[in-house]
Amino acid sequence: KPIVVSGIRPTGNLHLGNYFGAVRSFLKMQEEYNCYFFIADIHSLTTHPTPENLQAGVKQVLAEYLACGIDPEKATIFIQSDVPEITELYTFLNMNAYLGELERTTSFKEKARKNPENVNAGLLTYPVLMASDIIIHKAEFVPVGKDQEQNLEMARKFAGRFNRMYNSEVFPIPRPFTFDGGDMVKIPGLDGSGKMGKSEGNAIALVEDPKSIRKKVMRAVTDAGPTEPNSPKPEPIQNLFTLMNIMTDPAIVKQFDEAYKDCSIRYGDLKKQLAEDIVTFTTPIRERINEILADEAYLAKVAKMGAEKARESAQATLKEVKALIGFKKLF
Ligand code: TYM
Repeated sequence: KPIVVSGIRPTGNLHLGNYFGAVRSFLKMQEEYNCYFFIADIHSLTTHPTPENLQAGVKQVLAEYLACGIDPEKATIFIQSDVPEITELYTFLNMNAYLGELERTTSFKEKARKNPENVNAGLLTYPVLMASDIIIHKAEFVPVGKDQEQNLEMARKFAGRFNRMYNSEVFPIPRPFTFDGGDMVKIPGLDGSGKMGKSEGNAIALVEDPKSIRKKVMRAVTDAGPTEPNSPKPEPIQNLFTLMNIMTDPAIVKQFDEAYKDCSIRYGDLKKQLAEDIVTFTTPIRERINEILADEAYLAKVAKMGAEKARESAQATLKEVKALIGFKKLF
C-alpha cells in the first residue's frame, strides 16, 4: 500500500480550514493507504508555548483527530516528539539545506516579518524538519492544504538531493494529494480576504459552540450588494460562496448564486443558511471531541500504539540512511 504522511501543529483547536484542507483527505486515505497522521508538537515550539499549553494542545488535536473519524486501527496516529528518529534525520538533512533557499521560503519571510523579535533557527529550518517527517516513513503522498505547497516542494527537493548525493533511491519523492484530485485547497476566512487560520483570528473551530459560530458568520465581511446584473463577485463575497460550496446543499447554493446575478440577494439570508449548515456539520464532531477529551486512558492508549508503529517504520529508514551516509560502528 502506498505510504501517506501528514501532520497538524497543536497550536489551537482544529478549524474548518484544517478539516477541509487536510482531515477530510485523511479520512478518505485511511481506507486505502498506509497512513501516518501525527501531531507536529516539535514544529509548534517555534512560537514558544508554555509546557501546559503544549500538553493541552497535543491532547486537543489527538481528540480532534479521533472525533473526526481517524481510526487508530486503520491509520498510525502519533505524536512527533515520540519519534526521536525524526529529529535525527532532520540533523542529517540540515547538512544539505542551504541558507539561501531556506531564507527565500515564503512562510519564513512572512513569519519573520510579522514577528521580527523571534526569527529563530527552528523557524528557518522548519521545512527541513517537515521534510524529515515525510520522508522518514518513505511517504509517496502528502495530503495538505494550499498553504503547505511550498513546504512540500522543499521536502521533494531535500529527498531528491539526498538520493543523488548518496547515489540511492532510498526516498520516494512525495507528492501532494488532494481530496478530489483537483487543485490544493485554500479555505478562506470570514474577514474578507486571505485564508482561514488559527493565528489569523478568522477561524471557525470544529469545537466551537453554535452561538459563537452564528455570531461569527453573521459578522462576516460583505459589501452593499451587487448593483448591476451578472457582476463579478468581489473577494469577500466570493469567499462566502466558497464556504457555502463546501457546507451547503448545491441546489440552495444555486439559488443564492442566481439571486446574486439578478441583484436580489440578501446577505443576511445567505449568512443564516451558511451558519446553520456549519452548526449542523460541526455539532456531532464537537460532542465527540468533548467525550474523547474526557477519556485520558483512551488517548494514552492511542498515542502509545501510534508511537510504537511510527518508531518501527522510522527506525528502519534511519538504519538505511546511516549506512548510506557512512556511519560505521567501530564497536
Ligand atoms: P498547520 O498545522 O498549519 O495546518 C494543518 C493542515 O491544515 C491545512 N490548512 C488549510 N487548508 C486549507 N485552507 C486553510 N485555510 C487551511 N489552514 C490550514 C494545512 O495546509 C495543513 O495541511 N507545516 C504543517 C504541519 C506539518 C506537516 C508535516 C504537514 C509538519 N510536518 C509533514 C504535512 C507533512 C502546518 O503547519 O500545518
